[in-house]
Amino acid sequence: MKNINNGIFLSMLCLLLCLVHSRIAIDPFSFSHSLKAECLMKPPRSRVKQGLSLLSRSAKDDSDQEWEVEENGAIREMAQRIQLQQGIIYSFSAWVKLREGNNNKVGVVFRSENGRLVHGGEAKAKQGCWSLLKGGIVPNVSGPVDIFFESEDREAKISAKSLSLIQFSKEEWKLKQDQLIEKIRKNKVRFEVTYKNNTAVKNAVISLKQTKPSFLLGCAMNFWILQSEGYRKWFASRFAITSFTNEMKWYTTEKVRGQENYTAADSMLKFAEENEILVRGHTVLWDDPKMQPSWVKNIKDPEDVMNVTLNRINSVMKRYKGKLTGWDVVNENLHWDYFEKMLGVNASSRFYNLASKLDPDVTLFVNEYNTIENPEEVTATPVKVKDKMEEILAYQGNENIKGAIGAQGHFSPTQPNLAYMRSALDTLGSLGLPVWITELDMPKCPNQAKYIEEILREAYSHPAVEGIIIFAGPEVSGFDKLTLADKDFNSTETGDVIDKLLKEWHQKNSEIPNILSVDHENEEEDVSLPHGLYNVNVSHPQIKYLSTSLCLEVTKEMGPLQVVRVVINA
Ligand SMILES: *[C@@H]1O[C@H](CO)[C@@H](O)[C@H](O)[C@H]1NC(C)=O
Ligand SMILES: *[C@@H]1O[C@H](CO)[C@@H](O)[C@H](O)[C@H]1NC(C)=O
Ligand SMILES: *[C@@H]1O[C@H](CO)[C@@H](O)[C@H](O)[C@H]1NC(C)=O
Ligand SMILES: *[C@@H]1O[C@H](CO)[C@@H](O)[C@H](O)[C@H]1NC(C)=O
Ligand SMILES: *[C@@H]1O[C@H](CO)[C@@H](O)[C@H](O)[C@H]1NC(C)=O
Ligand SMILES: *[C@@H]1O[C@H](CO)[C@@H](O)[C@H](O)[C@H]1NC(C)=O
Ligand SMILES: *[C@@H]1O[C@H](CO)[C@@H](O)[C@H](O)[C@H]1NC(C)=O
Repeated sequence: MKNINNGIFLSMLCLLLCLVHSRIAIDPFSFSHSLKAECLMKPPRSRVKQGLSLLSRSAKDDSDQEWEVEENGAIREMAQRIQLQQGIIYSFSAWVKLREGNNNKVGVVFRSENGRLVHGGEAKAKQGCWSLLKGGIVPNVSGPVDIFFESEDREAKISAKSLSLIQFSKEEWKLKQDQLIEKIRKNKVRFEVTYKNNTAVKNAVISLKQTKPSFLLGCAMNFWILQSEGYRKWFASRFAITSFTNEMKWYTTEKVRGQENYTAADSMLKFAEENEILVRGHTVLWDDPKMQPSWVKNIKDPEDVMNVTLNRINSVMKRYKGKLTGWDVVNENLHWDYFEKMLGVNASSRFYNLASKLDPDVTLFVNEYNTIENPEEVTATPVKVKDKMEEILAYQGNENIKGAIGAQGHFSPTQPNLAYMRSALDTLGSLGLPVWITELDMPKCPNQAKYIEEILREAYSHPAVEGIIIFAGPEVSGFDKLTLADKDFNSTETGDVIDKLLKEWHQKNSEIPNILSVDHENEEEDVSLPHGLYNVNVSHPQIKYLSTSLCLEVTKEMGPLQVVRVVINA
């Protein structure tokens, strides 16, 4: 940043006066352009309907104008000073390409007056075609910022066009989330109740209860659950999926070489099975050298490391074959490289291959931190996590493994950058593989409940996300960041948020049946239902014999309006 001198800065400002004229911008909530992360010869012109586009006020449309990014050190600039307001969500987008080189990461950076840099998103830029860079900023102080582009490669020659910065109030953003949730997570369902002769049954009453949700909001658990009846009750009445924090890890199950002990994991799995709670396995291996069993750390002979590692993979995966919905295979293998250092550059890819042979039906996750939650990350950025997944899939024999991406989601105790999070999920989702938030938490802070709700809604309203597991529990569990209930199992403020969302998304604790009465001439009777399985009862307040029940599946594939015909035998 020191390389940015005022001379260049001024020329940059002149340049930018022209940029103000563009009215073309990408809708930050549109997933379509980033879906395949396509590099386009001619980027589409799409007009923004919502929000205020700050880089585009005039009617003159010069979005085809192409800007060469200056060469001045790490940060290459082509930007404009903009006044930002605290608490507003600013969504950024631009199309970028390289004039030389290929496949360089290009990022957008917001620099405040005191020189603080906030990274706001990244894309992999190519030569000869345009890549979409999305992201944004949610400033914690009001003030002016300058917008820059940067690349890891200091020599990179960047071109950019169609820059846009759209502002949203928190309420506007929430409205967009809600609209998306209606579209991607729910169907409108119309019940038509008739007699055999096709006449409508007036005033039929329909009650329905979701028996299985499609989208799962789950919660981690630990061994304390085996010792606390209260914890077990608290858990089983809420969650339909879990992950164990440490109990399946190698350092827990084989503390001493050759002496495996799966007692805790087995008992927790038994509890889960008895309560119809699905389990995501965590983790076969962990690439962090500090997280190996202590006896493994002392092995120097690579062949011996390979032997014990293969034994570990075989042991744990055969034991739980067919019992888990997914496995983190090599946890955090962008941040760390224990197995690569000991066993060669393709070690992880080999282990994913072996894992898929041992349990072909289980989803195999790459699981990393800082990918969606920390825009300042350099190692496990969205583009790099996506590259890693592609690298694993490209390894011989891995073409058809059931890959998935886990974003841990350990947020810091500050306002989350929702615009960045959305763009990160766009990138992760662009492979078309399932994306899960796997360890969502945030240290305690004054607005923790509010921030957690914003993050959960952001994930739920993103089409690539198939499930969320929070790292949380009641006080007795010792989860001290996200504590959802006190020692008497009374909900905390964050606990209330989780319960509210479970209910809103129709999950385990939504015991109250939805009651509606049908008069199917009226379109307003259409009910909006989250995808999943339902138990439906049809009855009539006056006609006692008129009563029937059925199972209903509400899925994306059924289309936006699903008509359910119930014919009464009378
Ligand atoms: C804003 O966030 C930055 C980075 O997290 C922090 O250093 C700074 O103190 C924050 N400012 C305020 C006013 O909270
Ligand atoms: C249809 O059947 C119901 C119940 O048997 C009867 O009450 C109703 O009058 C019939 N309607 C017509 C148009 O036949
Ligand atoms: C439907 O009726 C059955 C039997 O009476 C009952 O067990 C079930 O809870 C009812 N379902 C709903 C959604 O009301
Ligand atoms: C195995 O683990 C369980 C639970 O963690 C513990 O109670 C038990 O003593 C262990 N068994 C052995 C043989 O170490
Ligand atoms: C590794 O396992 C193979 C096959 O079981 C064995 O022949 C070899 O001696 C082992 N290597 C070491 C270093 O223990
Ligand atoms: C690693 O795997 C790639 C293919 O995915 C292959 O081209 C390369 O030669 C392998 N490297 C080693 C050291 O085995
Ligand atoms: C906590 O729960 C207990 C039992 O459910 C109840 O008696 C008590 O009043 C609650 N305490 C608070 C502070 O709400």
